[in-house]
Amino acid sequence: MTDSGEPPHDWPSYYQKTGDRPPRETLLFALDRFDAEPAAAPRLAVDLGCGSGRDTIEILRRGWRVLAIDAEPAAIEKLIGRDDLPAGAALTGQVARFADANWPPCDLINSSFALPLMPPDEFAAVWTRMIGSLKPGGRVACQLFGPRDSWAGGEGMSFHDRPAVDGLLADLDVEMCREEEDDSTTVRGEAKHWQIFHIVARQTGSEA
Ligand SMILES: C[S@@+](CC[C@H](N)C(=O)[O-])C[C@H]1O[C@@H](n2cnc3c(N)ncnc32)[C@H](O)[C@@H]1O
Repeated sequence: MTDSGEPPHDWPSYYQKTGDRPPRETLLFALDRFDAEPAAAPRLAVDLGCGSGRDTIEILRRGWRVLAIDAEPAAIEKLIGRDDLPAGAALTGQVARFADANWPPCDLINSSFALPLMPPDEFAAVWTRMIGSLKPGGRVACQLFGPRDSWAGGEGMSFHDRPAVDGLLADLDVEMCREEEDDSTTVRGEAKHWQIFHIVARQTGSEA
């Protein structure tokens, strides 16, 4: 793997290097599933840890409304200043940590390479709120990191082994839970061992 998230550091430099990269495969998988289930009105996505918007921009291109949330003001500034925002994009930005953020019921919670950057004492409540805010038929698309990841044990980060991941997804229809484990380099060019769960799961029930 050559294209992943990083732990907290110089986020503006990270946004500069990655903002133009293509959307994440978990997001594309979820959006394609929604495209096969036509909706009467534009859907709402919440992009938690949007960064400079490589995923947000794709959701907007598909005609969704997006609430993009990130703790870093530089992320939201860069996102709303993008020159490839679709005309009339229904985009709202919110600068907030996940634990303090507010978002309404939604069709998609997307969080690419961001949830592991939350401290363990915040993770459970945020996860419960994420899943609770999904409308019937809504989806979560995200990455979680496993305990063999070389960042495991890092302060302020959360890691989940396979049973823990299965537990988080127990009440959802799991559409993707692909475990990836390999050695590559980070965006900063540092060698790293990755253990990543790529997840897409659907809230049970049908869209209203
Ligand atoms: C590795 S970047 C990923 C950005 C983008 N989602 C992507 O896939 O490229 C993680 C983002 O999550 C944000 N973030 C990390 N922890 C956060 C928290 N606890 N609350 C809000 N945002 C957070 C960071 O500021 C950063 O923009």
